[in-house]
Amino acid sequence: MKYWAMAGFALALAACPAGDHKEAAGYKPDGKYIFNNAAKGNCITCHRVTAEKYVGPGLAGTGALHSRAWLERWLADPQKVWNENGAETLDLKKRMNAETRKFTGMKVINLLQDAERAALADYLMTL
Ligand code: HEC
Repeated sequence: MKYWAMAGFALALAACPAGDHKEAAGYKPDGKYIFNNAAKGNCITCHRVTAEKYVGPGLAGTGALHSRAWLERWLADPQKVWNENGAETLDLKKRMNAETRKFTGMKVINLLQDAERAALADYLMTL
């Protein structure tokens, strides 16, 4: 291979930062995998899917406590939902003894694609 062709290839690689790639066509996100994977949702860092409290509440029974719509909004921007004080959020605050706390402890570090958030919400509804 010519030197310039190799240099061009190296530049093309450098111009594509890790994590900025689109998932392959036909990619079907798996909510359970996203929940448990540190490079995806990373929810397992703070939550158990049993009733056990960890950093955050145990998530057993989430499907009965929450609507799917609330979950999708919560996963996209927890602090925004926290501020809005909707009925489901007020209930969560009451259960956390956090009615006057200004900030939620839930930080979503990894930015999920819409389809991944939807798959995660589907998974949470089964808990
Ligand atoms: C840094 C820790 C942390 C991470 C990471 C985190 N959460 Fe949370 N989560 C919390 C805390 C804390 C609360 C309770 C709200 C509060 O006290 O601020 C909460 C609340 C929730 C609730 C509402 C539970 C209820 O009892 O109503 C759901 C559902 C939830 N988280 C799902 C997730 C999912 C799914 C992920 C992964 C995308 C995630 N969380 C990542 C800390 C975290």
